[in-house]
Amino acid sequence: MMNQAYAQMLSPVLDWVLQARANGRYTFEPPFESGAGARARLGGREVLMLSTGNYLGLADHPEIRQAMRAALDEFGASSCGARINNGTTTLHRQLEARLAEWTGKESAIAFSSGYLANLGTISALCDADTVIVTDQFNHMSILDGCRLAEGTVKIFTHNSIDKLQFVLQRNADARKLFVVVDGVYSMDGELAPLDQIHKLAEQYGALLMVDEAHGIGVLGARGAGAAEHFGVPVDIVMGSFSKSLAGIGGFVAGTTALVEYIRHFSHAYTFNASLPPVVVAGVLKALELMERESWRIAKLWRNTLRFRSGLIELGFDVMGSVTPVVPILIGDDEILLDMAKDLLDGGVYLAAAIPPAVPKGKSRFRANATASLEDEDIDRALDLLGRAAKRYGLLR
Ligand SMILES: Cc1ncc(COP(=O)(O)O)c(C=O)c1O
Repeated sequence: MMNQAYAQMLSPVLDWVLQARANGRYTFEPPFESGAGARARLGGREVLMLSTGNYLGLADHPEIRQAMRAALDEFGASSCGARINNGTTTLHRQLEARLAEWTGKESAIAFSSGYLANLGTISALCDADTVIVTDQFNHMSILDGCRLAEGTVKIFTHNSIDKLQFVLQRNADARKLFVVVDGVYSMDGELAPLDQIHKLAEQYGALLMVDEAHGIGVLGARGAGAAEHFGVPVDIVMGSFSKSLAGIGGFVAGTTALVEYIRHFSHAYTFNASLPPVVVAGVLKALELMERESWRIAKLWRNTLRFRSGLIELGFDVMGSVTPVVPILIGDDEILLDMAKDLLDGGVYLAAAIPPAVPKGKSRFRANATASLEDEDIDRALDLLGRAAKRYGLLR
């Protein structure tokens, strides 16, 4: 028999899920029958992918497949161990050396996910002597890292330099100050003003960590991210392999002292099985391709501009997005889910984001263009979106 308190906690969610499924409105976790290319197979038909982290279209690149196959033949399916024990291969070492060189840092360390990279880095570095200063809209993995850390957490209003300065000033006597922000906000597509944040971090002697999950392969002359875009040297670069780099995993780069500390004191690293070598080989190849096929970044931006300006022309609110992450504000959860279903029926996949992923009343499509889309794909998606919004009385 389930305890009453658990029943009260669990049943509202189950009721909602069952009802949404019964109404055909449950669009979460659709079981794709293909990879993450511009066109994917879902329910036996082709859909256009307008919500995927595969920004550069590398997920189905033949050279990556080939590199992964070769690693599979050499190393097998898994290392079956944590990095600190039997989970390190020559490929892991190669990847970390490449990431350090690419980010211009002394060292880098790979985690089994970007989520764990944030969790494991913040919780390892921010001890009881630390005041952690974090943007209100930072990714959940940063928030969870803050929760796990022993330091005191201070949250500042999203992208407010005044509020950041206020918090730093009030905590200027802390033994350690740690500022952490997303370079690109994953639900809003805004940039953090890293030039100003960096200046303040310098002024107050704070360590600055930037999450480049949505900056890598997108921003900066070499696609290294928001810090490269602003031309500021941040202390800790965090990145994910699961977006532009078409893999899974994450990393952190910084000084050798910092990386070695994390290597030995981050539970999310030490007590976690290592990335399969196959994945590491794929990410190494993706880094090479990002440089060699630099047209992909240019095409990503061209497509982003076409998509974003088309949405604005139709009358949608894209919430000030300036990156390939383009939110389409709908507001009402029910309308959003109905529209998501209609769009899917029309052959376009757009991810719906409702609370707690976004604030109440700010439900939205979390859309993005990719380098794999062609003009006619974008125009078709825009046409369907416009027609659906009119049907629901959102646009005239
Ligand atoms: C800003 C940001 N940071 C971290 C992560 C976590 O990355 P991963 O998918 O590699 O765990 C994500 C992924 O959604 C993200 O958007």
